[in-house]
Amino acid sequence: MDRPPRERDADSWDDPAGAEAYAEAVREGSLYRALAARLVEALAPSGGGLWLDLATGSGIVAERLSARLGPVAAIVGADRSRAMLEVARRALPLVEAAFVRADPAALPLAAGSVRGAACSAALWHFPALGAVFAELARVLEPGARFAFNAPAAQLAGDDDLPPAPLQLALAREGLARFGTPPAPGGPVRARAEILRAAREAGLAAAGDGWIEVTATQRELADLLAVPAIAGRMYPAAPPAARAAWIRAAAAAVALDEPIHVRWWQTVLQNRGQLP
Ligand SMILES: C[S@@+](CC[C@H](N)C(=O)[O-])C[C@H]1O[C@@H](n2cnc3c(N)ncnc32)[C@H](O)[C@@H]1O
Repeated sequence: MDRPPRERDADSWDDPAGAEAYAEAVREGSLYRALAARLVEALAPSGGGLWLDLATGSGIVAERLSARLGPVAAIVGADRSRAMLEVARRALPLVEAAFVRADPAALPLAAGSVRGAACSAALWHFPALGAVFAELARVLEPGARFAFNAPAAQLAGDDDLPPAPLQLALAREGLARFGTPPAPGGPVRARAEILRAAREAGLAAAGDGWIEVTATQRELADLLAVPAIAGRMYPAAPPAARAAWIRAAAAAVALDEPIHVRWWQTVLQNRGQLP
């Protein structure tokens, strides 16, 4: 059944053009590629077995896992969006990975079958985080690790970096055009709340810290212009109005200027049968 246009548009990870726009925004050398690389480093995957990239998008983490592990490992990239999975399959024909459509809280994987998992730039999209952690605890081998990251802006109490000029321009333009500041991209949770939900599901903190990544304002503008991302910030606005909003904000700043973004990167370990 067709959903009403506003809802469909606000959730347009499933829109093929939006999925292509996302893949283009996370091209080689982009901010999200750098974050994916840091995350895979933190996971430190090695050996064979089954490895999971949760909310794989266009597959940039799956690609890194594959490059690092080689043919001895099997990689699964899971995502809820058919359009993103299609883009991943097309973008990575040579990567030995299975891209599967799945709810992160009900993965089509056997209990204790996964050697390690990562989720880059997506955890805040999951409304029922406890259920996702519980599912990870189910599918991960005992002692196996799960690495994820999240921007400070998506963490309650941690959004204390001065906003980049583009963010200020977006807030100014947004207020002027729509009467409200942009909404965050998903539920904002505190780090302690996330770690508590993980612990309750059986995933213990095995290391966390802040990482700083440098990008340009242009890269940020490209990402924010992805329909699924812009849609979250002004769900009630028509897509053309959102595009005009981002263009106007981008025109007010020096797009080649570097900006520093701060992300929280965390590794959890499945307690499983461990003491
Ligand atoms: C910002 S992209 C990140 C993709 C990829 N991990 C990367 O680093 O490029 C967010 C991804 O989360 C997926 N997503 C959003 N909500 C989801 C949900 N509730 N369950 C599963 N995937 C979801 C989207 O389809 C999209 O592919």
